Amino acid sequence: MEPFKFGCIVGDEHYCVRPQIEKEMKRHISGGQNLVIQGERRRGKSSLVVKCVRSIRGMGLLYVDLLGITSASDFCRRVADGIVVLDRSRSFLQKTAALLSSLRPLVVIDRDTGLPAISIDARSASDPSSVLTVMNMIAAHTKERRICVVFDEFQDILDIPDSKRVLSELRSKIQFLADTSFVFLGSVRNRMSEIFAHPRSPFFKSALEMSIGEMYDDSFVEFLVGRFKGARRSVDAEFVQKIIRDLDGVPGDVQELCDALWSVTQNGEHIDVAKLDAAYRYIFAHEGSSYETYIRLLTLHQRKVLGALAAVGGAHVSSNDFLDAAGSHNASSVKKALARLADAGHVYHFKGEWKFASPFFCEWMRRRV
Ligand SMILES: Nc1ncnc2c1ncn2[C@@H]1O[C@H](COP(=O)(O)OP(=O)(O)O)[C@@H](O)[C@H]1O
Ligand SMILES: [Mg+2]
Repeated sequence: MEPFKFGCIVGDEHYCVRPQIEKEMKRHISGGQNLVIQGERRRGKSSLVVKCVRSIRGMGLLYVDLLGITSASDFCRRVADGIVVLDRSRSFLQKTAALLSSLRPLVVIDRDTGLPAISIDARSASDPSSVLTVMNMIAAHTKERRICVVFDEFQDILDIPDSKRVLSELRSKIQFLADTSFVFLGSVRNRMSEIFAHPRSPFFKSALEMSIGEMYDDSFVEFLVGRFKGARRSVDAEFVQKIIRDLDGVPGDVQELCDALWSVTQNGEHIDVAKLDAAYRYIFAHEGSSYETYIRLLTLHQRKVLGALAAVGGAHVSSNDFLDAAGSHNASSVKKALARLADAGHVYHFKGEWKFASPFFCEWMRRRV
């Protein structure tokens, strides 16, 4: 079995415990507090919340991923998919279907999994008011069991037609479910702020903001050393610390690099800095063609700005160093290019610094310029 996992929610042996933040989060969720957690991708937001909810005795998890959601009926469909995971007993499904009757639900057998599921009629659910039906269904279930509702990649709800109405339907219902904790996860900061920090948004100040931080702790170092050991590789803690530092404590990136290090080495081998280059090349062999596609879609100016960011870093993008590296005389056109690159998801701006969303894309660029 593979020792490292990345790009997905992790649990069990692929999950390194985070005692402090888990304790705080579990306390809030048990107390029915609504939470909002925003942060860049691959920080471990989803894994953390799922882990916490699952470890609260008697608490059911209704997990709804809104990534790429297209419409109100899509929202209803995703909630229906989530609710069956909570309980697949016939009585629960029948009760759920009855609660959703205006959406013409059917209890079916999922063709892929062979498990019972609830399908709803897309046309009956197309009006934003269908969101209220779905929320009423959740509310009815919360009378009988404790449920924590997690909306992941919540910012994507802004993309659907009628998003304003859908948001206010959601909010109006959530408001009355004081004992139920709703957790909103989001990965695009300014879009999440549009929902939670804008005074005119129905969600303004409706949830407590938690930040989960990076993973620099010793327990993560120990966890990774142990994973290598279990996969018959040896590493020193110092080397693992260096990797974590180089990758800004982002757990998804750290696991990806560790996976590459494991892949380019043999049983019984000792891993140190000498193996890093091969590991990076292993990652580029898998991801390089996507990077090339990204680059091809940029203007020449944007490409140069991205190259400058890889070469000199993004703490001072108006400095002469940066402008020279970008071959530009104009700080405002550099800023504009960075904003475009941010829209495309390649870079982000946080605490005064521009950064690549992916450190591997950054390293790939650095090697090209
Ligand atoms: N507690 C953890 N222990 C070990 N690795 C983790 C942990 N949390 C996240 N990761 C790593 O980060 C990756 C992304 O995690 P995920 O929860 O999907 O992050 P996010 O929701 O912030 O994008 C995982 O696939 C895993 O490699
Ligand atoms: Mg996530």
